[in-house]
Amino acid sequence: DVPFPGWADEVRALAKKRGAVLLAHNYQLPAIQDVADFVGDSLALSRIAADVEADTIVFCGVHFMAETAKILSPEKTVLIPDARAGCSLADSITVEQLREWKAEHPDAVVVSYVNTTAAVKAETDICCTSSNAVEVVASIPEDREVLFLPDQFLGAHVRRTLDRENMHVWAGECHVHAGINGAELTRQAETHPDADLFVHPECGCATSALYLAGSGAVAADKVKILSTGGMIDAARATKAKQVLVATEVGMLHQLRRAAPEIDFQAVNDRASCGYMKMITPEALLRSVRHGTDEVHVDPELAARGRAAVERMIAIGQ
Ligand code: 13P
Ligand code: SF4
Repeated sequence: DVPFPGWADEVRALAKKRGAVLLAHNYQLPAIQDVADFVGDSLALSRIAADVEADTIVFCGVHFMAETAKILSPEKTVLIPDARAGCSLADSITVEQLREWKAEHPDAVVVSYVNTTAAVKAETDICCTSSNAVEVVASIPEDREVLFLPDQFLGAHVRRTLDRENMHVWAGECHVHAGINGAELTRQAETHPDADLFVHPECGCATSALYLAGSGAVAADKVKILSTGGMIDAARATKAKQVLVATEVGMLHQLRRAAPEIDFQAVNDRASCGYMKMITPEALLRSVRHGTDEVHVDPELAARGRAAVERMIAIGQ
């Protein structure tokens, strides 16, 4: 809910005065999504951050996303309405741990999910998001070892899709997606036999979804492993009347906007990311009014991470 009538107009007016563009991730609160200039997944928002003309970007998302925007556009002012909005997945590997892992595999190509700190990106060869992780790993010559981090479920999905043995996967996870488990998905699929299943590859249940499809319990063409942006495209394309959605619950808002005639149901309706929800309407208003919280990335780290992020936005266009 918004704090007062006219909140959205005030946010837009202050953003305009500041020359700022408002970007919002698909997991943001509905009011934040509705006031933003662009709503999208992490890859689409990175591409917009790299290309947009505005001098200031207000990133309604979590800290690594705002950092990525700053790495891509160091000359711009990047604001996040609450700098405490972190990410449990980004916290699941430190730069020291990555350096040790690299020392064990000195010839490997390092592929980091965009959900990582700027320090980890600085030690990375290519970043990826859930929309292009398969294409990014496929772009690496087959005889090169790959270190994939930090998400074990996304890593397992990529390894399975490409049938690639020489790919080592870090054992990190996102607490929200890991909590969407196979038992829940199976139960829901059994009680909604005609529904499509849209499953984010960070989910603990991604393997179970494929098992359901492989065993014939659910028709194979009804199970789709997708990024949040991919879910919107699939919602527009499907003929299903009902879709079970395995990802953070903020996603339901854009899905319902994209295909209002479909009944979208969360596989786990408690799957809410507390970090994403730290971007409240009050915090956004403060941000556009006072220019808070500004995101800084050490220029030397940013310079070292930029090539990896630029490769990410170029692959899977
Ligand atoms: P995508 O928007 O890339 O699907 O990522 C999901 C996510 O967990 C971001 O935090
Ligand atoms: Fe991080 Fe998970 Fe929240 Fe996405 S949903 S920002 S991966 S903690």
